[in-house]
Amino acid sequence: MTTSGFDLRPNAHPTDAALRETILENPGFGRHFSDHMAHIRWTVDAGWHGHEVRPYGPLTLDPAAAVLHYAQEIFEGIKAYRHADGSVWTFRPEKNAERFRASARRLALPELSDEDFIGSLRALLAQDNAWVPTPASAAEESSLYLRPFMIASETFLGVRPSHEVDYYVIASPAAAYFKGGVDPVSIWLSSHYKRAAPGGTGYAKCGGNYAASLAAQKEAEAHGCAQVAFLDAAENKWIEELGGMNLFFVFKDGRIVTPKLTGTILEGVTRDSILELAKDQGLTPEERHISIDEWRAGAASGEITEVFACGTAAVITPVGELRSEDENIRLKADSGGEVGKRLRKELLDLQYGRSEDTRNWLT
Ligand code: COI
Repeated sequence: MTTSGFDLRPNAHPTDAALRETILENPGFGRHFSDHMAHIRWTVDAGWHGHEVRPYGPLTLDPAAAVLHYAQEIFEGIKAYRHADGSVWTFRPEKNAERFRASARRLALPELSDEDFIGSLRALLAQDNAWVPTPASAAEESSLYLRPFMIASETFLGVRPSHEVDYYVIASPAAAYFKGGVDPVSIWLSSHYKRAAPGGTGYAKCGGNYAASLAAQKEAEAHGCAQVAFLDAAENKWIEELGGMNLFFVFKDGRIVTPKLTGTILEGVTRDSILELAKDQGLTPEERHISIDEWRAGAASGEITEVFACGTAAVITPVGELRSEDENIRLKADSGGEVGKRLRKELLDLQYGRSEDTRNWLT
C-alpha cells in the first residue's frame, strides 16, 4: 500500500537507471514514460474503487469500449518540478482537479474528488520520483509532465453515458513543448475551421476538442506554423485560443489582455496564474473580448507590443507572427517579448522553488 491509500503493484522490469538518466538529459515532450501508472476504477454500482499504482503498460480494452466509438474521454496536464533540495512539487493541483470535475460533468463522466485526484498524483510520484528531472541550470525547464485521464470503458455500443469508467495517471519527463524552445512561434489563423461553439465542449478538456483541431493544425504545419489560432464560431471575429494553449496580448500602456471565458475557451491554470502575477509586475490584466481586427490594428500601430501563448506544456511562448491565407500580422513595435520573459521567469522561479510561494500555490 502506498502513502495515499493506493495498492502498489511494483514494476518487475523497471527502466535501467542509466537509460533513465539518458532519457532525462534530453526528454523532448511526450515520448518517454515512467515505470508506473496510477489507476482507479468506477462502476455505476460500486462508484470509485480499486485504487492502485501498477506497472506502466498497454491497456486491454474491448473493441466495443465506448471511448473508442463515442470519445467519452477527458484529461488533464500538470507538471511535477524538482527543487534544489531534491523535493518534488506540483503547481495548483486543486485547480486541475476542479477543472477535471467540470470536464467530467460536461462529458457525463463521474466526478473524481480532490482527494483521489491529488492522491493519485502523490502515489505515482512517490513510486516514480526518480523520473522527475533535476534541471541542470536555472534556465532549463525540465519537469515530469503528469497526464491524468478518464475513459468510458464499458463494452456497449448504445449511445449513453458509460456504466464503467477507468481513470489513469501516466507520467512523461518533459522539456520545452516547442522544438525551438522559447523562440517566437508562427501561428496560423484558421479561416474555416472552428474549435468550439456556444453550448459545446470548448471549456472541457476532452480529447474531442483536440481531435477537432487537428485538420487545422495540419493546415498550419503546411504553412510553417506551430499552432492554430481559432476565432469564435458565432461571429468569426473574436480571438478564442490556440489548439492547445491560451493567448495574451501586451499593450504599450501596460494592459495585458486575454480573451474572456465564454464557455468556448479552456480555463487554463497558467492563464489564471498569469492574470495574478501580472498585477505584481505593475501590469493591468484584462479579461475581455479581443477581435482579430484589434490584433491587426494594434500590431500595425504599435499599441500591441507582445503576443504570447501560455499553457502547462508551453509555459509562456512568444508569438512572432500570425499568418493566414491572405495576410501576415507582425508587431510593428516588437518589444523583444520582455513582459512575457519576465512573467515566464516569475512563474518558473515559483514552480522550481527559487522564489517564495506567498500564495501557497505549491503542493
Ligand atoms: C497542456 O498544456 O498541459 C496541454 O494539455 C496542452 C497540450 C498542447 C499538451
